[in-house]
Amino acid sequence: MSNENQQPTPEVEQNPSSDKVSPFLNTPLPQGTPQGQQQPIQQGAAQTSTASIPKYNLPRGANTGNVGATTHFGYQTVNSDDKAQKVAEVFHSVASKYDIMNDLMSFGIHRIWKRFAINMSGVRRGQHVLDIAGGTGDLAKVFSREVGPQGHVVLSDINESMLNVGRDRLIDAGCTNVDFVLANAETLEPFADNSFDLLTISFGLRNVTDKDAALQAMYRVLKPGGRLLILEFSKPVFEPFSKLYDLYSFTALPIMGKLVANDSESYKYLAESIRMHPDQRTLKGMMENAGFQSCDYHNLTGGIVAVHRGFKL
Ligand SMILES: C[S@@+](CC[C@H](N)C(=O)[O-])C[C@H]1O[C@@H](n2cnc3c(N)ncnc32)[C@H](O)[C@@H]1O
Repeated sequence: MSNENQQPTPEVEQNPSSDKVSPFLNTPLPQGTPQGQQQPIQQGAAQTSTASIPKYNLPRGANTGNVGATTHFGYQTVNSDDKAQKVAEVFHSVASKYDIMNDLMSFGIHRIWKRFAINMSGVRRGQHVLDIAGGTGDLAKVFSREVGPQGHVVLSDINESMLNVGRDRLIDAGCTNVDFVLANAETLEPFADNSFDLLTISFGLRNVTDKDAALQAMYRVLKPGGRLLILEFSKPVFEPFSKLYDLYSFTALPIMGKLVANDSESYKYLAESIRMHPDQRTLKGMMENAGFQSCDYHNLTGGIVAVHRGFKL
């Protein structure tokens, strides 16, 4: 792709259209509400900040068709309808310490992985980008700068605690071209068909109960010609390295979690969920099944992480 090595632009510029209705949402934001950041507080919202975030299709109700079906939550087998709640508890618990834990656990390497994914995105000025399960906004912050004032970024996540941290961080950084939307990756219900040039999901897909449904939803909201990037833990390619990595993840991570976030269970879940996630080839096949074309992947750090890429042609 000719634009993949484009240099980041140096600053965030003001978006002159920041008070317009978001072009991506099936349900428009109220007129004159900048970025949807000042919606009235929704019933049941965790009021950890002064402003609220539009939320959509969050609970998986009894009508999911999953009654009696089971899935995995780390190494536990749980009812499919319970997994989202358990994942939510993990991220509510770790939200305030999420960024520092990422740096500690990965020795800062997650920043290089994310930079690699951003370089593969081919993002250009004026584009419309959706960062799914975007949490505290590492990717959205860079995309905000890259797309410039004529472009637009949506940072979306199912978890209000994570999204609140992301929103505060991006507002503090002066990102005026970003919307913040609570949404389930399995449906992406707030977003209209064919509305984004670029979709990213970074360390999020692993946590989603129905990954095939999520991939189909991603295909739906992507514009023809657009691309999807999935940055996720994957299967290390070198067996001896894999043993060392197991030792690190199952001993050091829960201890760090206990010391820094006072939560060892969430970091035990992290280690287990990584082992339960589809390997590189399986995930590529799942993307193809959802309709993505020209799919490929790149292993990073010996396959500890992989970036998968697919296109909607
Ligand atoms: C490990 S964090 C990744 C955050 C960010 N993308 C990053 O790379 O730092 C995983 C995120 O996935 C979100 N998540 C989990 N299940 C989700 C779902 N079904 N739909 C949308 N987001 C989800 C969590 O709330 C959490 O913020």
